[in-house]
Amino acid sequence: MATINDRVPVSNIKRIGVLTGGGDCPGLNAVIRAVVKDAINNGIEVFGIEDGFLGLIEDRIKQLHIDDVSNILTMGGTILGSNNKSDPRRYPMGTDDEGNTIFRDLTDVCITHLKIRKIEALIVIGGDGTMSVAEPYAAAGINCIGVPKTIDNDLHGTDITFGFQSAVHVATEALDRVHSTAASHHRVMVVEIMGRNAGWITLHAGLASGADVILIPEIEFDLDVICEQCIKRSQRGKRFTIIAAAEGAKPKDGEQIVDRVIENSPEAIRLGGIAKWLADQIEQRTEIESRYVVLGHTQRGGTPVAGDRVLATQFGHHAMELLKMGKENRLVVMQGGELGDVDIQSAANKQRLVPTDHPLIAAGRSVYTCFGD
Ligand code: F6P
Repeated sequence: MATINDRVPVSNIKRIGVLTGGGDCPGLNAVIRAVVKDAINNGIEVFGIEDGFLGLIEDRIKQLHIDDVSNILTMGGTILGSNNKSDPRRYPMGTDDEGNTIFRDLTDVCITHLKIRKIEALIVIGGDGTMSVAEPYAAAGINCIGVPKTIDNDLHGTDITFGFQSAVHVATEALDRVHSTAASHHRVMVVEIMGRNAGWITLHAGLASGADVILIPEIEFDLDVICEQCIKRSQRGKRFTIIAAAEGAKPKDGEQIVDRVIENSPEAIRLGGIAKWLADQIEQRTEIESRYVVLGHTQRGGTPVAGDRVLATQFGHHAMELLKMGKENRLVVMQGGELGDVDIQSAANKQRLVPTDHPLIAAGRSVYTCFGD
């Protein structure tokens, strides 16, 4: 990882673009605010691209001023809009005679839209899919600086992404809330938590709320073990069980449950359904009444927690520092508590999963949390 101390000559960049790609998350506006304020303060004009790469395809680009970013620090979502199914390299342009979708590479169109406005660099706020889509722009001489966002916290190269802490907060609160109703009715409650193939949100929220069972995609679960855990708890007088289940959790020798496939998305598979499946299975096998809750997009919405606001502001500022230093095609990262940068492509199409020997798993096991294995 390179750090800010690796100074190179200051660039004289005058115009930059900023976009938010992929699924939204709390803290996007805080990054946009930091970028715009820092840029304008340094005599750099900023252009906001609407709806991620879709706005670049459709030439929806507008200049941002200080007033545009005033009062947005605490706002969820993104003032620019986002989109997680538009990859200009493979854009659907209708269907052929047999009904098959025709795809076209519209990268050149996007580059033209940038060049017409003399935009020399792009700040790309997104996850691994967005970083991979940024690749051709860097190749065309438009410097791309990535800022890592995602509630999933699964971006390669950085210990943390902004949005994650807010999602953990929402999931923890939900787990805390189902606790009392589960106890009153002596039920098993399964809470389904987002994160795609990574169990970070579930692991953190599960530990924070003292969930009895934590199921993450990185550890395949055995349904018999989970049922045994529920029965044992009942026998011990604990007549309820709270299960934090990642949407990507899967049974041993089984598959993840796919909710839908979105063909044009850089990440086509949308997971979902594990909580219902588990609640049904547990009720059938143990005869303990079971219910489930799917937290879904509540984990992505609303105001960012303080930690995400701070991180997003740091990331936005650091992205501008990199640009001003003339660094090219870098991704802002946080490693070991220190801000730095890595090659933007090193994060593309990769996922940072929870290592099965992660200290948080050991800590969970030490307080008798069952991981389903
Ligand atoms: O990557 C963020 C995320 O919220 C995942 O946790 C989830 O699986 C996915 O996006 C949902 O995508 P969509 O908003 O397209 O339903």
